[in-house]
Amino acid sequence: MTLDARVYSLFKEKFSREAQYIARAPGRVNLLGEHVDYNDGFVLPAAIDRATYLAFGPSESEVTTLWAADFGQKAVFSAETLAAKTQPDGSPLPDWAFYPAGVMWALTEAGLKTPPLQAVFASDVPRGSGLSSSASVELAFAVAWQQLGGWNVDPMRLAQLGQRAENGYVGVNCGIMDQFASACGVENRLLRLDCRSLTWETVALPAEVAIVVADTTVRRKLTSGEYNRRREACELAVRLLGESLPGIRALRDVSPEDFNRLAAQLPLEARLRARHVVEEIERTRLAQSLLEHGDVASFGALINTCHASLRDFYEVSCPELDVMTTVAQSLPGCWGARLTGAGFGGCTVNLVAREAAQEFSRALAAGYESRTGFHPDIYICQASRGAGLLG
Ligand code: GLA
Repeated sequence: MTLDARVYSLFKEKFSREAQYIARAPGRVNLLGEHVDYNDGFVLPAAIDRATYLAFGPSESEVTTLWAADFGQKAVFSAETLAAKTQPDGSPLPDWAFYPAGVMWALTEAGLKTPPLQAVFASDVPRGSGLSSSASVELAFAVAWQQLGGWNVDPMRLAQLGQRAENGYVGVNCGIMDQFASACGVENRLLRLDCRSLTWETVALPAEVAIVVADTTVRRKLTSGEYNRRREACELAVRLLGESLPGIRALRDVSPEDFNRLAAQLPLEARLRARHVVEEIERTRLAQSLLEHGDVASFGALINTCHASLRDFYEVSCPELDVMTTVAQSLPGCWGARLTGAGFGGCTVNLVAREAAQEFSRALAAGYESRTGFHPDIYICQASRGAGLLG
């Protein structure tokens, strides 16, 4: 059964009526521009063909009642219980419910109506895998409340509200990339976003190239603390570099030349983190013209360099991600491979010659499994459209 059919039939089972709507919001994969969104840089993600599906309708009472099909759990909350992060009976909200509750909180804060709803949701975006399962949940609920609340904002605004939920309610100080990609995805296109101006365009991926996503199946705990700490190191670097470069607002404003000249002024941790960011922003600038000219080989080389930088300077890789990229980079047809998303576990993204993609996937799975003992999940992914209602 497809996931949309599943949430639809579960809704009937749980609420003894038909769902009125089904919302779908995709996960994303990022090709280049990692850990630069919160440094005002450029990112190059695509929405993927894995998504969160949400069957919903208005609630007849004052409370919102949700079933998370993937957990077999229910959560209840209302405008009154939101701030306390509890359910009406006083019990704490389960972790998964922080995302929908956070969306209700962010929308309310923005003065948008969030009528109580009943919903069942399920996702085939693997959780904690670097493919933005949380943004896909946030955007699915944002779409639902937009429909029931009778208001309408553009997809970028919807993305910002999802980000606000995650920053202000869930407590992860993430940038805009994931929610943006989930909200604004376009079929068969990469998205190129300037995270400072929030202007974006779509970019074609050369037809001979496939995007292969490889899940190490390794998940790390406590990543939000590490993530927030990376962000603080970048902010410290901006403050210290600002003593010599007055007027800079973010690492986006620091050229690689200035950085190399001034790097010694920074303490080690901030220096390593800032080096990754400054050079990664430079790589995304270069990628633009490489893609325009169809130079897949040079683009792939930037992807490989990005992985080394995330491993050595940003220090967000892990042994399994390193094995997955090393094996991939040695295989025929692979132009580039690196970890994607925040890191610490999860998935790699691979740029592969389309004709070699099947064999590549098979060989990568075998090579990874023989070196780690873990059975990976590898699939060829299609860039998909952004969040919206089905049907
Ligand atoms: C997570 C965050 C994004 C971005 C990436 C790293 O996915 O949600 O905002 O910072 O990590 O590029």
